[in-house]
Amino acid sequence: MKLALAGKGGVGKTTIAAALVKLFAEKGHRVFAVDADPDSNLGASLGLPSSVLQRLTPIVEMKDLVEERTGTGKGAFLVLNPDVDDIPDRYRVRVGDISLFRMGGVKAAGTQCYCRENAFLKALVGALVLRRDDLVVLDFGAGIEHLTRGTAKGVDLLLVVTEPTRVSADSAATMVRLGRDLGVAEVRVVGNKVRTEREARFLAETFGEDLLGLVPYDEDVAEAALEGPGDEEGDGPVTVGVLRGRLCESLEELYPEIVKLAGGRRT
Ligand SMILES: Nc1ncnc2c1ncn2[C@@H]1O[C@H](COP(=O)(O)OP(=O)(O)OP(=O)(O)O)[C@@H](O)[C@H]1O
Ligand SMILES: [Mg+2]
Repeated sequence: MKLALAGKGGVGKTTIAAALVKLFAEKGHRVFAVDADPDSNLGASLGLPSSVLQRLTPIVEMKDLVEERTGTGKGAFLVLNPDVDDIPDRYRVRVGDISLFRMGGVKAAGTQCYCRENAFLKALVGALVLRRDDLVVLDFGAGIEHLTRGTAKGVDLLLVVTEPTRVSADSAATMVRLGRDLGVAEVRVVGNKVRTEREARFLAETFGEDLLGLVPYDEDVAEAALEGPGDEEGDGPVTVGVLRGRLCESLEELYPEIVKLAGGRRT
């Protein structure tokens, strides 16, 4: 099952990605969390200490390394096939059944695109050979620069996260269209930070059947975000404690539907 999260800046992609990673791991899935956002913080949101995250080599560098050693352009595939277990440990942080990868560095000033990162992401998404119940979670940065045709084909379910505002919903609607145009198998919207009935109604009316579900505004999550990433495991903005809260409960309700949508292609 390959799941990607997209949405306008700050809507809660990383928070929801982290909560889903934890939830699926708890349910017994092996989870591969890919931080595809150059200004990445999925690791911190998962509660991983900054000392561990600093040691994590971005996987774009794996391609360079292998090319250097083998002198071929096919290096990435050699490493990634046939099984994700072959990925060397310096490119991932493992916590129980969760493996975290980091995509790449910050876009160099003046460069126009993440071409190299995109090419690699496509290779990664396409080449990961998974067990049936494994889950890959891709946390994209704001916008959908990473969502190219090649990457989209490998994604089973795109979750477009939106806040209950007109501006956020408009851009979510654009991303839903784009995701479908690019050939993602399933595309659904998750409304996040919902506080009132009126907001819930607004999202239901705007997205109709495309709306997978709603995640309430969670004071505990907002509170935890005031803290920076700590240096002890579990200290990050989405701590285990927070993950027992309302945000997590609402995602737990969506779990069966997510499994159905994301796993539909490989039954
Ligand atoms: N359901 C929620 N309730 C309260 N606060 C939330 C909720 N979801 C996310 N937040 C808060 O909103 C802020 C933005 O969340 P997050 O970083 O997950 O967004 P993002 O979409 O990944 O942002 P970016 O586009 O910068 O990657 C964070 O401070 C987070 O704690
Ligand atoms: Mg983010």
